[in-house]
Amino acid sequence: MGAHRIAVIGGDGIGPEVIEAGCRVLDSLSEVEHDLTFSFQRFDWGSDYYRCHGHMMPEDGLTQLRPFDAIYFGAVGDPHLPDDVTLWGLRLAICQGFDQYANVRPSKLLPGVIGPLRPELSAGIDWVIVRENSEGEYAGVGGRAHRGLPIEVGMDVAVFTRAGIERVARFACDLARARPRKLLTVVTKSNAQRHGMVLWDEVCREVIRDYPDLTIDWMLVDAMTQRMVNKPASIDTVVATNLHADILTDLAAALSGSLGLGATANIDPSRKYPSMFEPIHGSAFDITAKGVANPLASFWTAALMLDHLGEQRASARLMSAITSVTGRREVVSPDLGGNATTKQVTDAVIAAVRGVNA
Ligand code: IPM
Ligand code: MG
Repeated sequence: MGAHRIAVIGGDGIGPEVIEAGCRVLDSLSEVEHDLTFSFQRFDWGSDYYRCHGHMMPEDGLTQLRPFDAIYFGAVGDPHLPDDVTLWGLRLAICQGFDQYANVRPSKLLPGVIGPLRPELSAGIDWVIVRENSEGEYAGVGGRAHRGLPIEVGMDVAVFTRAGIERVARFACDLARARPRKLLTVVTKSNAQRHGMVLWDEVCREVIRDYPDLTIDWMLVDAMTQRMVNKPASIDTVVATNLHADILTDLAAALSGSLGLGATANIDPSRKYPSMFEPIHGSAFDITAKGVANPLASFWTAALMLDHLGEQRASARLMSAITSVTGRREVVSPDLGGNATTKQVTDAVIAAVRGVNA
């Protein structure tokens, strides 16, 4: 139990709406959990900040964030600005600058949520996908040449390093070991990409030798999409490259009912830097400022943050508040088939945290 300093970056679109809702929920937890307090410091960085200042965050942004225990992040992306500018200027700058190399994305069909698969299949969704978060296809290495000419070229080079693969593989093995099924699926594409992905396989194979208690299986990423749909119960913990896991986690979110439920943790396991916690749904400009965004992903995200801060009891209380609200199906946001507002869902979760109707 303790006092936690949280840097809050709502960012763009619905980001500030769902993150402020999350701060309210965290405050309600500190009312009921003894000795648990949060101090939130807000940073108005993002696309509006860019329009005023010409960059997404101040030049010393990382220095400002460094002293915090965690970063609670909304979304980034603006219909009027190039996505690569907004993304690289803020979210990726933080992930990469703070070496948050393990991106953890849980998926589960929450009670009361109806997924697109047959119920007996959906019930098997209880996964954690570990996404390599510092290199691979998102390394930012490449270039453009012959600009504007017919022979123009653009290249992105996927960078795989032995150290980068080893550390994320080890993180995934440790996580798989901590889960009851002790089952890890390593996703690859070494049949077609014969350099970086072959190194990925080799290094994963070496790391796995240290975990004889785990059951390991290997999947090519294309076949993995089929398995997630057809045999969800055969999957538990997954490790995949930055881009592969980006794609697989959208599929995972859709299969578990709504993109409005996906939560993620960008972790620096060494704890040298603060880790960052965010819902994966993005800025969703089509519903911005309408008050209807589903805040549950940002609450689940807050639960991941509490786990990282060592507040397991508060995290479990928050998750059971979330599932009691989804399970009753009385307060349901539009993405899940209802018409409840962000505020109504937030109030319902806060009431459940306080034990009313819990
Ligand atoms: C995610 C998102 C981002 C990504 C986008 C916003 C660039 O899709 O967090 O999964 O690809 O990493
Ligand atoms: Mg994605």
